[in-house]
Amino acid sequence: MTEAWRPEDDEERRGASGPVRVRVPAKVNLHLGVGPLRRDGYHELNTVYHAISIYDELTARRGDTLTLTMEGEGTGELALDDSNLVIRAAHALAGYAGVMPHARLHLRKQIPLAGGLAGGSADAAAALVACDALWGTGLSRDELAGIAADLGSDVPFLIHGGTALGTGRGEAVSPVLARPTSWHWVVAIADGGLSTPEAYRELDRLRDTGAAGPPLGSTDALLGALRQRDPRVLAPTLGNDLQDAALAMRPTLAATLKAGEAAGALAGIVSGSGPTCVFLTADAADAERVAAELEAAGVCRQARTTHGPVHGARIT
Ligand code: C5P
Repeated sequence: MTEAWRPEDDEERRGASGPVRVRVPAKVNLHLGVGPLRRDGYHELNTVYHAISIYDELTARRGDTLTLTMEGEGTGELALDDSNLVIRAAHALAGYAGVMPHARLHLRKQIPLAGGLAGGSADAAAALVACDALWGTGLSRDELAGIAADLGSDVPFLIHGGTALGTGRGEAVSPVLARPTSWHWVVAIADGGLSTPEAYRELDRLRDTGAAGPPLGSTDALLGALRQRDPRVLAPTLGNDLQDAALAMRPTLAATLKAGEAAGALAGIVSGSGPTCVFLTADAADAERVAAELEAAGVCRQARTTHGPVHGARIT
């Protein structure tokens, strides 16, 4: 049976005339195993990505040039020129597809800058999905993920979302198939960011002096725990090799981690290269309590309750 033609089918092929709005989540690494420094300046990773319900939103409209405006987290701090990952993503897609990179892009940010939640990578993923629809270039998710890999190690994951294994420098992503479960997280957002390259350099330094903890190794325990759908089983398997580096660069994070666990979180880890800390809780009610206590203790700028896994960059 052939499916009936819909007017929006032609619209998709030609591109959208109206605005395209894309929502994209933040990510945490449930397991961030950092291997040796490679010759290309990146570290070999063995990670489990997890998309959580803090979102940025990118709106793309037709325009005669390529422009970017923004509101929300980081406004006034984030450069909106050609160095911005959103602009770089639009140029990369236009170059690949052989179209003019013309669009008016507007970003509404909730994901903090340099927070270890891959906010910049999320925005690049959103730009690829939004411009693909606006321009009618019609690439597959896998083609978009291929362009994404050149923009940053986390960008392919943010096209896909969910929970996924990341290898290589993080850009080789394969989904973790698990029965549907919602995990409840509290995200403690810090004042100011941390630089990802500096966190990796700090880890290399700590490893040279023997001051870093032993490397995490395999993701087997975490993947097994994810299948069991019990947060108490998952809690002890969470881990991040960059945590020692983030704590060395921002020693106050130790108090944040301690406060979350004292408030009843099952486990707390630094997210990615920090300084955001993320806490696993037993359920949504516990997450509310932990978030309130973290804010009352004054150990973070803001504590947010979230859940995961959620979808990657998607048109709303
Ligand atoms: O890939 P992305 O541009 O997000 O990486 C930012 C920086 O983080 C890199 O320039 C590198 O210093 C560091 N990094 C790394 N190993 C990885 C990913 C990132 O050393 N696997």
